[in-house]
Amino acid sequence: MDFKKDFPMLSTNTIYLDNCATTLKPLSVIDEVSNYYKKYSANAHRGDYDISRIVDDKLLEVRKKTANFINAEKENEIVFTSGATEGLNMVIKGFFKNYLKAKDEVLTTKAEHASLILPWFDVVKKNGATINYIDLTDDLTVTMENVKKAITKNTKVISLAHITNVIGDVRPIKEICKYAHKLGIIVLVDGAQSVPHEKIDVKDMDIDFLTFSAHKMLGPTGVGVLYGKEKYLKQVKPIIEGGGMNAFFDSLGNVEYKELPEKLEAGTQNIAGILGFGKAIDYINELGIENVHKYEVDLKKYMVDKMSKLKNITIYNKNIENGIITFNVEGVFAQDVAAYLNKKGICVRVGNHCAKILSEVLGVKNTCRASIYFYNTKEEVDEFIEALDNDNMLYDAL
Ligand code: ALA
Repeated sequence: MDFKKDFPMLSTNTIYLDNCATTLKPLSVIDEVSNYYKKYSANAHRGDYDISRIVDDKLLEVRKKTANFINAEKENEIVFTSGATEGLNMVIKGFFKNYLKAKDEVLTTKAEHASLILPWFDVVKKNGATINYIDLTDDLTVTMENVKKAITKNTKVISLAHITNVIGDVRPIKEICKYAHKLGIIVLVDGAQSVPHEKIDVKDMDIDFLTFSAHKMLGPTGVGVLYGKEKYLKQVKPIIEGGGMNAFFDSLGNVEYKELPEKLEAGTQNIAGILGFGKAIDYINELGIENVHKYEVDLKKYMVDKMSKLKNITIYNKNIENGIITFNVEGVFAQDVAAYLNKKGICVRVGNHCAKILSEVLGVKNTCRASIYFYNTKEEVDEFIEALDNDNMLYDAL
């Protein structure tokens, strides 16, 4: 399929291979955002006039669409946030901070993104709980065997990405939830790199909390989703308070919050962004998320086959079945690889990718990451490979 007519960015002279960082946006999303500002630019839940009601209805529609997309039981289990990072902070600081007691243990891994590690550091410091890390295998994946080994009688929560943003390994979330729940352990999943790329069914997987970002799935920046089972979401204390989330307050400091999801959505939200996100979901639904996934897996295989033939390239995640390929070029600093590729109009991300503890197990601090989405093509991959096949890369980067 030619996606150029839908994605204005595809008509620029850029080969965009940084889809883990953010994805390109189709016209339907861009138009929806602009329509909000042009045609019904009112606040939500506050106005007793027509255009405000239009906005209310549209927001409700996106909430329903989002619930369907991940197969949530109820739409009030969908909280709109500013992104996966905010959702993770809301759960860790607004729920687990009160839930965990001294000596309780949080299980995570050394491959997680900063947004899933730093809020825990803050919480355990305050309440005397500890963080333990599940051992990763030699190819840096999480196995059920290692999850079971890491669990102790004090484990209260397992907190991890479904798919990591550097290695791209897919964790056995359904099995983890099943095992954890038998032991009364709650599972918090960062779905930022999985929800845009493969089918996530929160009911089937029995996930307790899930977070993800709109901008990594064709939607606008500044919008995200926190999903939680109603019984847990009800117990999340808002870490941000303000208008729209309270039912009552008085001068004595008595405050009553609204029900879910408003309780967790203080202030005016990114209305334009949420409406645009609805169109992003429509776009992915039309393609079929299973087709998106299959296309990416096939293109990644094509890329790995070609890259493996180049000398001087180390690939860290050859066998991982998704669109993330993480590598280094021998003798060339990752930043220089990016600078060189940039000269050729190719965008990749390099560095530690916000997963700073990973270097303790990966053995290198910086890597290059090319990440694809359904609109990338074999021709683009060929150009990328051709660019990498250069003994003078270091010189040409300057
Ligand atoms: N978390 C995003 C990435 O991995 C920004 O690039």
